[in-house]
Amino acid sequence: MCSVEGAKKLAAYQAVDNHIKSGYKIGIGSGSTVVYAVDRLAQRVENENINIICVPTSFQSRQLILKNNLTLSDLEVASQLDICIDGADEVDCNLNLIKGGGGCLLQEKIVASCSKELIVIADYTKNSSLLGQQYKKGIPIEVSPLAYVPIKKRLEQLYKGEAVLRMAVNKAGPVVTDNGNFVLDWKNFDQSLDWNKVNLDLIQWPGVIETGLFINMAKKAYFGMQDGSVKVQS
Ligand code: 5RP
Repeated sequence: MCSVEGAKKLAAYQAVDNHIKSGYKIGIGSGSTVVYAVDRLAQRVENENINIICVPTSFQSRQLILKNNLTLSDLEVASQLDICIDGADEVDCNLNLIKGGGGCLLQEKIVASCSKELIVIADYTKNSSLLGQQYKKGIPIEVSPLAYVPIKKRLEQLYKGEAVLRMAVNKAGPVVTDNGNFVLDWKNFDQSLDWNKVNLDLIQWPGVIETGLFINMAKKAYFGMQDGSVKVQS
């Protein structure tokens, strides 16, 4: 029986071993599963002497790259990446994703969109048949601080459910993203919504910076499973 942490590590290690080649420019996602991917990248740089360049998707992943002595870059220098490896909060059977549980959705989507392929690494709890069913914390939507109330009201009126302003753990104030914005977590929505249409609609609303709906972006997902195997979905 494999723990959730063990499953994250299995998925991350296998994805890095299968996809990363010397010379690659790599987008480094954010979250706890990506920690294992960076760990494996550092091992491969040390043991195989591969040469890679890493572009972070958050302050957290920038710190990870630096801590592991990997070569740090950015989209100004490396605007076309070979691959992006990132976690997800939910992955459906068509490889559509909910992301942004860690509040890094904007940079994650930008970096993924600059990559030839987005490879998802996750534990078995993230695997879902219908997007929006599995992840109970809601779909993250990054918004401009001055627009969070009108966007919350518009979202609840048009699409139902509840959009909750994400608060810091100590409840002293809202979570502020790496980009200086707030996050609304949208829950209890109608499960039969067309997520592609919803995403295209929301990103046009003034004040919506980005949504955590990653539709038709991922190429493959690696899930570490409870039995110690890795399920690959493409
Ligand atoms: C951060 C993200 C993460 O990739 C997502 O929350 C998954 O994180 P973890 O690997 O810790 O489960 O989208 O914004």
